[in-house]
Amino acid sequence: MALLRSVVVGCGAYLPGNVVTNAALAERGIETSDEWIVQRTGIRQRHIAGPDETTSVLGTRAAQAALDEAGLSPADIDLVLCATSTPDYTFPSTATQIQAALGIEGGFAFDLQAVCAGFVYAVATADRFLSTGGAKRALVIGAETFSRLLDWEDRTTCVLFGDGAGAIVLEARENDASNRGVLTSCLRSDGRHRAKLYVDGGPGSTGTTGKLRMEGREVFRFAVGSVTDVIEEVFRASGTTADDLTWFVPHQANRRIIEASADKLGIAREKVVLTVDQHGNTSAASIPLALAAARRDGRIKPGDLVMIEAIGGGFTWGAALIRW
Ligand code: UT7
Repeated sequence: MALLRSVVVGCGAYLPGNVVTNAALAERGIETSDEWIVQRTGIRQRHIAGPDETTSVLGTRAAQAALDEAGLSPADIDLVLCATSTPDYTFPSTATQIQAALGIEGGFAFDLQAVCAGFVYAVATADRFLSTGGAKRALVIGAETFSRLLDWEDRTTCVLFGDGAGAIVLEARENDASNRGVLTSCLRSDGRHRAKLYVDGGPGSTGTTGKLRMEGREVFRFAVGSVTDVIEEVFRASGTTADDLTWFVPHQANRRIIEASADKLGIAREKVVLTVDQHGNTSAASIPLALAAARRDGRIKPGDLVMIEAIGGGFTWGAALIRW
């Protein structure tokens, strides 16, 4: 049997209409400034969801946009995979909510939780189903309402995050000369780092949702120092180098982390897709939001070689190489 590849056939995004600038945060009484936030993170603004804009609402709109780009209807989808740490409910999963909202009655849907690395984990997971015949077409979604987890009294974290959703449609296709699809992926985690980035509540501990806590400097050090191992492994496994990449689309947490990682790996700065200035850190949504932005403005084209990479709480981290 011919090799099956998970080929990207659609990509879309959705952002809440409420845009909050750095200056607006300072005006609300948070002891910060546009200058500090831009200098330390590159963030200029973020989108914040309204009360009715739950994660499944954002995810459904992004998924519909991805289906539209693919020219497919919801009935064509047999796997809905949603990467999120901010589900509408403890259960049922946000993915099943999105499945129902789109009117999909067949197949299966589930959430995947790897915090900011969630979308990379979801692409790798969907690829396993598609490449082994377990599903035909997957909606892979990253959707978050991180604003709901923020402690607005903690200036070291509340200025960093935003809300949004992005999605891709992956379709199982027999490999051909174009060599399109998810070429390889590498996932890692190390739970010893829990206390550096976590939420201080949950259904099985406090019975509350909790708030996000982070030792920013420690996360920064790990992100720049260690996370590049998964990218090097993806290069090795695929027989490619930094020079072969068309685009590098990393998790969008901090411009300094992104540029330091690119420099360390020898990836030219002009190949880096940056949206952190516009969206802030949207956790699992940040990569598909960046992919959708680069698709929309014509940067990413079929045949391009795209590396995605992220690190999140746990720590969890991973990378995947996609021939678009
Ligand atoms: O999504 C994956 C996980 N997240 C990340 O990847 C984030 C990783 N970490 C970071 O991006 C950076 O560490 C931060 C942006 C969080 C912080 O930048 P930093 O350069 O590491 O700053 P710092 O924590 O060393 O703080 C420097 C100073 C401190 O003041 P003192 O102690 O030097 O007087 C902070 O109190 O900046 C102060 N500060 C602020 N000032 C104005 C912290 N937050 C703010 C703020 N506005 N919002």
